[in-house]
Amino acid sequence: MSIDSAAPVRAEEPAISARTATKRTVLMCKPQFFTVVYRINPWMDPALPTDTSLAVQQWQTLYDTYVGLGFDVHLIDPIDGLPDMVYAANGGFVIDNQAYGAKFTHVERQPEGPAYMDWFGANGFNVRVPIETNEGEGDFLLVGDVILAGTGFRSDSNSHAELSIIAGRPVITLRLINPSFYHLDTAIAVLDDTNIAYLPSAFDAPSLAILQERYPDAVIVSEEDAAILGLNSYSDGYNVVIAARAKDFERQLRARGYNPIGVDLSELLLGGGGVKCCTLELRR
Ligand code: ARG
Repeated sequence: MSIDSAAPVRAEEPAISARTATKRTVLMCKPQFFTVVYRINPWMDPALPTDTSLAVQQWQTLYDTYVGLGFDVHLIDPIDGLPDMVYAANGGFVIDNQAYGAKFTHVERQPEGPAYMDWFGANGFNVRVPIETNEGEGDFLLVGDVILAGTGFRSDSNSHAELSIIAGRPVITLRLINPSFYHLDTAIAVLDDTNIAYLPSAFDAPSLAILQERYPDAVIVSEEDAAILGLNSYSDGYNVVIAARAKDFERQLRARGYNPIGVDLSELLLGGGGVKCCTLELRR
């Protein structure tokens, strides 16, 4: 009988490796015209009051946080009558200087597609006008060399194939099943090129199996943290800007050697968005 007493005991959380921050370039849109006047996700209730100046103030804190991290932050002008334009993540998906435009599901947001494409064009990106319905980085998340792509509520799965050709990278389709987590970036957080955090109950069984297989060491967030859109966060590989109230997520990130930075975007949560929704990564 051989007893392998030297076998390592499996730690509850994977060993901390050194994390490296990479300076990001992002696009944001000030919530100058933010309010909730229609309901296209379960978070939105037009009967509840919104405070636009508080939204601007909270958004400014996110902006300042990014600038403090050394990010290059670009701004697109907000348009009166497009209250959801603050959720810049939905404006497209940008990689290798190619800007795949958004084609929104709901009529209320459709004018945002061309507005963002105009900005990309004016700022030197090669605009790729979409044929298929898709809501940009809300449903497309780059993890290393692959793109995780959500469908079920917003982006059509045909857009996954369209993006795969434009980006020249594999796109992995994941099906969302809980209307409260209607965009992929509400159910998955990308931490770096190999690590993600996610909410298992947001996915159908085949999609969950894919995630479990590809990311066995993923951070699994609690329903409680997900319920305040805690997963809707943005990482530079070391610093992870998250919802200030996502305490357990914060603890897990710290345990793995990341530096969580909490920001309160309670006002923008009334529209069903958080940190990541307000952030579109620009990759030249
Ligand atoms: N009210 C917006 C909508 O329902 C919120 C978008 C949130 N954006 C995101 N990337 N998850 O379309």
